[in-house]
Amino acid sequence: MNPVFADLPVSVFEVMSRLAREHDAVNLGQGFPDDPGPLDVRRKAAEAVVDGWNQYPPMLGLPELRTAIAAHYRRWQDLALDPESEIMVTSGATEAIAGALLALIEPGDEVVLFQPLYDAYLPLVRRAGGVPRFVRLEPPGWRFSEELLARAFSPKTRVVLFNNPLNPTGTVFGRADIELLARFCERSGAVALCDEVWEHVVFDGRRHLPLIAMPGMRERTVKIGSAGKIFSLTGWKVGFVCAAPALLRVLAKAHQFITFTTPPNLQAAVAYGLGKADDYFDTMRSDFARSRDRFADGLRSLGFPVLEAQGTYFLNIDLAPLGLNEDDEGFCRRLVAEHRVAAIPVSAFYAADPIRSVVRFCFAKRDQTLDAALDRLAGALRRTA
Ligand SMILES: Cc1ncc(COP(=O)(O)O)c(C=O)c1O
Repeated sequence: MNPVFADLPVSVFEVMSRLAREHDAVNLGQGFPDDPGPLDVRRKAAEAVVDGWNQYPPMLGLPELRTAIAAHYRRWQDLALDPESEIMVTSGATEAIAGALLALIEPGDEVVLFQPLYDAYLPLVRRAGGVPRFVRLEPPGWRFSEELLARAFSPKTRVVLFNNPLNPTGTVFGRADIELLARFCERSGAVALCDEVWEHVVFDGRRHLPLIAMPGMRERTVKIGSAGKIFSLTGWKVGFVCAAPALLRVLAKAHQFITFTTPPNLQAAVAYGLGKADDYFDTMRSDFARSRDRFADGLRSLGFPVLEAQGTYFLNIDLAPLGLNEDDEGFCRRLVAEHRVAAIPVSAFYAADPIRSVVRFCFAKRDQTLDAALDRLAGALRRTA
């Protein structure tokens, strides 16, 4: 068996989900919304199953969806993408990332990764033969600097896997950050693999800036999105890959032999959804921001130091100023067992030298779910107060 997968331990996510079930906890560990997602988009999918095409769709995706993706990114991110040669539909962002890593890396190539990192990245990089080089981000700002990038990049850097907005921290990297990263990519000749699944879930008037739009990056960036996050339908697993034709041609070869296609009925519904009026997207954002504020205010009033959440479904607290005698994982285990609220220790998102004081909660839940969690959290600091 291949040790990359055979030697992976049981993840903290699995442990926390099991403990949440055992203790009948309010589960704010997993990152999916309570809301069932837009009814019209779900109806379109149902209609497409009943009345539409249910055989293999084209390998690159339904033409109507690729056209809708191009129009959507022109409208929202001012990008000019050719639906025929620069857009491909995949079975979720996860397939897009796996396929891109298999297509872009040769054994021994270095891949720059930012910690904390999404759990799928490292095993996929390793299985593709890539050698990880980490940029370690720290609270409260989670920003990278020229010095941190200089330490991670080398002449062997081939790919930079960059998640913006960043799960788990909820950081939205702005123009100065991505221009700096673009300079490093250009200098080293690296391809930027941009996981932008959270691009629409940004708050307080922010607009997502795609790295592909930065000078010099158009030909060396793979931009990845996910309908699951755009429409709060995380189980749909409809992803999009956007890249210049020379890159996309190679990525398509990997896709051809991984999944080949993605369910056509879901593709039809996503094509419809991407054309929804601006107010749908604005309301989605403001509804999530309202939940974030409700939960953040509640946590603050209980004495928890709350970190800024600029995007995603996640809010973090930093235990460091509280001087507790337990780390993030110990705190989460006590929280779920004694207070019946499940959260995720952010140290689980580090492969080396973890930050051990930050805990992630998913706030994309109904008011009563958040309020129930806050009620239960009321006693969590008492023991150490
Ligand atoms: C950063 C990041 N990338 C990728 C994914 C997975 O996307 P998909 O469900 O489209 O495969 C997630 C899901 O939480 C995510 O947070």
